[in-house]
Amino acid sequence: MAEQYLNTESDILIIGAGGAGMRAALAASDAGLKVTVVSKSLLGKAHTVMAEGGIAASLGNVDPKDNWQAHFGDIIEEGVYISNWRMAEILAKEAPQRVYELERYGALFDRTPDGRILQRAFGGHSYRRLCHVGDRTGLEIIRTLEDQVIHRQNVKIIDELYITSLLKKDGKVIGAIGLKMDKGEFHCFKAKAVVLATGGCGRVYKITSNSWESTGDGLGLAYRVGAKLQDMEMIQFHPTGMVYPPGVKGLLVTEGVRGEGGILYNSKMERFMERYSPQKKELDARDVVARANYAEIQEGRGTEHGGVYLDISYKGADFVKQKLPSMYMQFMEFAGVDITKEKMEVAPTTHYQMGGVRVDPDTGMTDVKGLFAAGEIACGLHGANRLGGNSLADILVFGKRTGEGATDYAKTAELVEVREEDIQNEISRVLSFLKPDGINAYDLIDELTSTMSDNVGIVREPDRLNIALAKILELKEKYPKVSAPGGRKYNHGLLAAMELSNMLVATEAIVRSAIMRPESRGAHTRKDFPKKDRAWLKNILCSDVGGEMKLDTEPVPTIPAELMELVKQEVY
Ligand code: FUM
Repeated sequence: MAEQYLNTESDILIIGAGGAGMRAALAASDAGLKVTVVSKSLLGKAHTVMAEGGIAASLGNVDPKDNWQAHFGDIIEEGVYISNWRMAEILAKEAPQRVYELERYGALFDRTPDGRILQRAFGGHSYRRLCHVGDRTGLEIIRTLEDQVIHRQNVKIIDELYITSLLKKDGKVIGAIGLKMDKGEFHCFKAKAVVLATGGCGRVYKITSNSWESTGDGLGLAYRVGAKLQDMEMIQFHPTGMVYPPGVKGLLVTEGVRGEGGILYNSKMERFMERYSPQKKELDARDVVARANYAEIQEGRGTEHGGVYLDISYKGADFVKQKLPSMYMQFMEFAGVDITKEKMEVAPTTHYQMGGVRVDPDTGMTDVKGLFAAGEIACGLHGANRLGGNSLADILVFGKRTGEGATDYAKTAELVEVREEDIQNEISRVLSFLKPDGINAYDLIDELTSTMSDNVGIVREPDRLNIALAKILELKEKYPKVSAPGGRKYNHGLLAAMELSNMLVATEAIVRSAIMRPESRGAHTRKDFPKKDRAWLKNILCSDVGGEMKLDTEPVPTIPAELMELVKQEVY
């Protein structure tokens, strides 16, 4: 018997209700289009809230010399020259407008004594550029965007809904099928354009700062309909995550701590960043500081719990509690550590995917017509290493642009009839997991995430990468035997089974790309190729060719001469 499902028709379907999805929804709603936003978790629980230390925009409020040109140069240099220059230009130019717009929407930023938006230092930025709300900036951004979106008559929001596949006809994406997890109901979404704003895939690692949603869903969805994944080897390890207690291992310790003066020490109480980066010290780019922390720990100068020390206590209790209230609470409540008096213990944690779905820099359109992507799921801006605070700028700048790009496309597109057979086949595929016997998805996820943390970390070696690839292929073989006993309502095992297919796409792309790139560049460090190689000023692309993942390379788009002048060419 045919399964029942609910139908929703909209001009634009947005998958993901973090900052990028919400900003895209605003753009499409402003243009008068009918928008549906679906969210895997509860509204307001997006991973955006985990971004703490600030949003990068060259307002020049604290350092008047700052401008978009300096921001552009920083992005290209810290991305080690494989960023898409056009995306870097757009971000650097438009981030200030998006921050002031957010303020008009009601965001309450910290202030300079004369009442302007306060900006703090962050690694790799030439100037103090991070506009912030204490250490809760992402939370304020989500709160503000939600306030704007939820009242709109032309925006429908459905949370706790997991998109299981995209629908494609005649080479175009025409909608999606999803399962409303709390009700166990299937939904068919017809849309003229679909925007992926699903965030990243940090959860494919065991130790990560990412919340449970970040399982690379958008990567799997896009890849399966023919979109290309780019630069997937570029995984950012944030230098400072918590190391204990075990339940919070990997939880973010914001770069804002170092931005406000935090100092890193090893167990011999040496300020070791003086050796690794005599000029910038703790405020060098994330890849540099993460490698330094990693090296100190590996070489036996780590702390009791396997980290290094981070100290801000010398600034005094009032300062710490005012500037870093969440860090104060986080350490006090989880670890029983008073950071106004004691040092923190921290170690690198998987934080961000610089790679993702390849998009057009101006419109956010992927390689597949009708499919757009914005935010962490989209690739190009950050190259080999993202600057802290540029992710929050990214979601606003490219959330808006992608919402507009999808709007322009939708204005001339038609809603397309979805074949009943396609809908029923997809529902049957999902329900086929609900068998009593089989392999538990959590067991495979455990193997996968351990494999990634053990073998595809900060410093990569060919043998270990090959071990990881063999394990991923073995888990792929086992995947059809995965089962999720129970019903369709609130079945976490069923959700895990569906997420696993996307995690397998993400990890295969990460590892194959890491094997392919024979050099060290930004976040990708190869022990056997310790230097960067000009011949690899290339982007790596993964695509699905007849069910096999195929890799290809393309030269990085050439930076126009007038923009190249903004980049310190001597390190090119
Ligand atoms: O350290 C942080 O507060 C993280 C910010 C970011 O990744 O942009």
